[in-house]
Amino acid sequence: MDDLESLAAEIDRASTVVALTGAGISAPSGVPTFRGDDGVWEHFDEGQFTYGRFQRDPAGFWDDRGDLQRELFGEAYEPNAAHVALAELAAEGYLDAVVTQNTDGLHRDATARVRGATADGENDTTDESEGTDHEILELHGNARRVRCVDCGRRQDADPVFERAEDGDLPPRCDCGGTFKPDVVLFGEQLPGAVIQRARTLAGESDVFLAIGSSLVVQPAASLPRQAAADGTLAVINLEETPCDGDAAVVCRADVTEAVPRLRELVR
Ligand code: APR
Repeated sequence: MDDLESLAAEIDRASTVVALTGAGISAPSGVPTFRGDDGVWEHFDEGQFTYGRFQRDPAGFWDDRGDLQRELFGEAYEPNAAHVALAELAAEGYLDAVVTQNTDGLHRDATARVRGATADGENDTTDESEGTDHEILELHGNARRVRCVDCGRRQDADPVFERAEDGDLPPRCDCGGTFKPDVVLFGEQLPGAVIQRARTLAGESDVFLAIGSSLVVQPAASLPRQAAADGTLAVINLEETPCDGDAAVVCRADVTEAVPRLRELVR
């Protein structure tokens, strides 16, 4: 945690600061991580949740996805001190963007909480600000929504998962198209505009904070290295990551201690 002082000074001087977050930032809220001890992929077979399976066998995909959705989002989660500290840093003008791999929507909830409003949950994955103090880019989509693969209509995921649970498999939109969770599945390309925007942010950042991610899933995992080429990379994560060697600061601490501490030091 000692290095956080020098990092805070860099953030103070920087004109563009970007955070990339992963499952580790939501773990203290109770959301399971994917890897590591008791990670979701220890209990579920990643191979059943690919885009290829969705296309080949949408009914089977939806059947299994219901179990995964319950495991991941079966409870109502609240943003924790790390989400809130990032939202506060943004509101105070120190943080320009949060690029997240998480699909839990907790950065938006934290931002809404800091602004004293309620999250509307309607934002697009590429949403730029929409009244927030900073940009929140949900690289892998948002699991609270589903999207029709034909007409593109988005809607709240809960009623659609309920229909699937009642045997309406695969659940379909009024237009007849199949609904898909509004997340990027394994084997599915990220929307071009989204990854392009993330690369631009990484390239423009003077300070890039990689927080709570194992940094092994591409293309998100390439962003820290890209940012380090021209700016300062800091990694805040409990475990070692493949990007630690590129980082000026590696903080092996719980996000709920390190991120609020960083915010205190910046102010
Ligand atoms: N504080 C700091 N770090 C933590 C904490 C914590 N409280 N809890 C967990 N971590 C760290 C773990 O040590 C681990 O390295 O968070 C990291 C989470 O890594 P992953 O579970 O691999 O999550 P992530 O990097 O977000 O995964 C990327 O993989 O399966 C896909 O689409 C899914 O978006 C996800 C992507």
